[in-house]
Amino acid sequence: MSTQEAAGPLAPQRLRCEYLSNPLGLDERWPRLSWWVNDARRGAVQSAYRVLVASSAAVLDDDDADVWDSGKVTSDRCIHVAYEGPALESRQRCFWKVCTWDGEDRRSPWSDVQWWEMGLLDEKEWAGSWIGLARAESDDSQPCPFLRRSFRIEGPIVRARAYVTARGLYELYVNGQRVGSDSFTPGWTDYDRRIPYQAYDVTDLLREGENVVGAILGDGWYCGYLAWGKGGRQVWGTQPSLLMQLALDTRDGATQIVATDEEWRASSGPVLKSDIYNGETYDARLEMPGWAGPGFDDSGWDTPRVFEPTGAALVAKRSEAVQVIDEIKPVKMTEPVAGASIFNMGQNMVGRVRLKVEGPAGTRITMRHAEMLNPDGTLYTANLPRAKATDEYVLKGDGPEVYEPRFTFHGFQYVELTGCPRTPDLGTVTGVVLHSNTPPTGEFECSDPLVNQLQHNIVWGQKGNFLEVPTDCPQRGERLGWMGDAQAFVRTACFNMNVAAFFTKWLDDVEDGQAEDGAFPDVAPNVLPGKGVAGWADAGVICPWTIYLCYGDTRILGRHYDSMARWIEYMRATSNSLTRPDFGYGDWLAPGLVSAGDAPTPKDLIGTAYFAYCAGLMSSIARILGKTEDAEGFASLSEDVKGAFNREFVTPAGRVVGHTQTGYVLALAFDLLPDEKRPVAVRHLVSDIERREWHIATGFIGGILLAPTLSRFGRTDVAYKLLTQETYPSWLYPVKHGATTIWERWDGWTEERGFQDPGMNSFNHYAYGAVGQWLYATVAGIDLDPDEPGYKHIVIRPEPGGGLTHARGELLTMYGRVASAWKLEEGQFVLDVAVPANARATVILPTSDSGNVTESGRPLEEAEGVSGARVEDGSVCCHIGSGEYAFVVRQ
Ligand code: BGC
Repeated sequence: MSTQEAAGPLAPQRLRCEYLSNPLGLDERWPRLSWWVNDARRGAVQSAYRVLVASSAAVLDDDDADVWDSGKVTSDRCIHVAYEGPALESRQRCFWKVCTWDGEDRRSPWSDVQWWEMGLLDEKEWAGSWIGLARAESDDSQPCPFLRRSFRIEGPIVRARAYVTARGLYELYVNGQRVGSDSFTPGWTDYDRRIPYQAYDVTDLLREGENVVGAILGDGWYCGYLAWGKGGRQVWGTQPSLLMQLALDTRDGATQIVATDEEWRASSGPVLKSDIYNGETYDARLEMPGWAGPGFDDSGWDTPRVFEPTGAALVAKRSEAVQVIDEIKPVKMTEPVAGASIFNMGQNMVGRVRLKVEGPAGTRITMRHAEMLNPDGTLYTANLPRAKATDEYVLKGDGPEVYEPRFTFHGFQYVELTGCPRTPDLGTVTGVVLHSNTPPTGEFECSDPLVNQLQHNIVWGQKGNFLEVPTDCPQRGERLGWMGDAQAFVRTACFNMNVAAFFTKWLDDVEDGQAEDGAFPDVAPNVLPGKGVAGWADAGVICPWTIYLCYGDTRILGRHYDSMARWIEYMRATSNSLTRPDFGYGDWLAPGLVSAGDAPTPKDLIGTAYFAYCAGLMSSIARILGKTEDAEGFASLSEDVKGAFNREFVTPAGRVVGHTQTGYVLALAFDLLPDEKRPVAVRHLVSDIERREWHIATGFIGGILLAPTLSRFGRTDVAYKLLTQETYPSWLYPVKHGATTIWERWDGWTEERGFQDPGMNSFNHYAYGAVGQWLYATVAGIDLDPDEPGYKHIVIRPEPGGGLTHARGELLTMYGRVASAWKLEEGQFVLDVAVPANARATVILPTSDSGNVTESGRPLEEAEGVSGARVEDGSVCCHIGSGEYAFVVRQ
């Protein structure tokens, strides 16, 4: 017996509160706690837990709880355990720890102590006014406001917090030091409805005597260039403004507040322009050394302008901030035109450039960004409508200078420098990669280097487009939270990174964008007129559902239930005998079209398919939330819509109108067809693919489900043919041609015609990367069970093929690490599986003879922790508990 077996489980790990590690500034009044049961034994379960919540770590050290003691709760629940103590108050910090019991009622040691801290729960607690700079109204970007306030602290401060937000963007400083490391704060929402704020611990930045708090403001999404309505800028307001307060707690229990008001001072400074689409202009000669610290003479500064509040709710930021995630060194420098140096970052990335230069004062260096090069080696910027993507730096001339813009980001692989005083070298620029700091959770790898590059491109598409909201693209003057793209990619995104908090936040934006009549918008936050589009608006149901599936989060379903139900009702009310209208984006960007929305799959067919599907999802959602009557209503609506689909779009012989890959995929994936027509549809789908010599013919809509549907209906062989296809149109065609991200179009660039229509041709769009879910779920074989979501019950079903000799997937779930790695070796299929404690799996092996299978060298029936071995649908399957397993299938 190992030491662990004798001692029982180890201390729980990875404690999270509302998905976050030690969140500061929470306004979820009943936060949920999650942990990983720490027990490497096979078949380890949690039979009970106990959570202690206290006002200090010291109290917990005595195993006491002066806030809440859950007591020993007999339950296997280790995710989303809701705090149930007394109502939490503003600014309250709660320390917590947890222990678990195993199946033999042996108790683990206590976990490490973690904490969460509440934000400001009542808007009346915001003491300040919105302040900014009295800038002239202008039809172009204006200099960024600098704001400062000096104040005194007389006695010791035991705790200091900054609560801060802006309409626009802010960077906060205390005594000359940047507060936190977040970018693009406070984040992007529909600012008319809700404005996020951050809370920072600034205790260590303050001292007795004079102190200074300062901020720089940017236009950001709030009043910078955005989308294309209303002159293309100033969507929510015309000027940026700051609202913040420092709460300084003294030893005697009093709190001193320093809030934004007319006592502050305001000025412009070196940032002459800073805009998300267009870039930043910075004149270092205008720097004001020491402006954010004590002792600076601000007598030349102005009184700030006070702006009215708008009535939008102030909400604690509930997702990971955008941060610097990585740095990239350029791989090559060229000079296609004298004086213009082009740096190749080797990766289509999102973020900005840090520039290191030296030269005379007044020298102006221009940095232009692009994803591609023209054939002559110069920058290709034609595909950046409405985005100048240009930063300018004017040197102050006092030695080596380092510059990095702050309120802008670019999508680029190449940056061109002009105006450099001396020839730059590879050390002159560094690529600074920025995105929402969603923790990486997935890895996929296999024996085909091209497929590995595809996976790399999918991940980089996610990095570049998960910046505050899930966007379509990061480079041109668009970068919007397109709903269709998000629903296409959400499942894949959940494999690569933990995006639960990210989508929790964004789904509020989605609901904020819902029209009175129940139609979800095209984009969220909503800045465009479009709404109610099939496959786009449906993100309002599909994304909460996917977050539920992948993270076991029922609260998100409850939170948006009414809004989702209104969308279903909208579809019902605006359909013609339950058939959706012929409108929308259709199977957007199917290959070989004259215009992007012109795909051959009828739009009313797509709309009706999604209507049936989402009504069906709503039925499941209602059932999960205990709304039985609603569940029945939605189920019968879904059945009725399926009836309409079959009447309108399916011939008696089983042909789906339009006879397209996408039509068949939707009909099959959404279970729209009667049983007898399914094989016919599969045959039509496969023969269309074959007719095109194993090429894809789907756009965004069909592309999401093509490979999973083929696999579900027994044609994984065909899915592999598509996956490994190297000629256009295919996933690997861009890979073969040097892509490092997923392209918007199958033919963004081709050997025959070069670049596609520059008006809409992004080289960093994740939608086609939706094939990633199939790589994880079918090639590596890690899937979930909707009846036990969050990977409580895992389905391990690798399906080898496509000439691959090995594949490996790993996923850090809410329960812990799941792994599935297989290889073909000397006529054997070898599969290593890892299942986290307190979860279990069904393993489905690619053989029909259980006599061929061993686990750790033993026949299945005798293997420890393996049960229920049987043959089902022609495959050997068995149940396993947690732990590591080694299966071998003799072939
Ligand atoms: C975006 C897409 C989006 C589409 C909708 C485009 O401009 O880039 O990804 O889904 O519009 O039609």
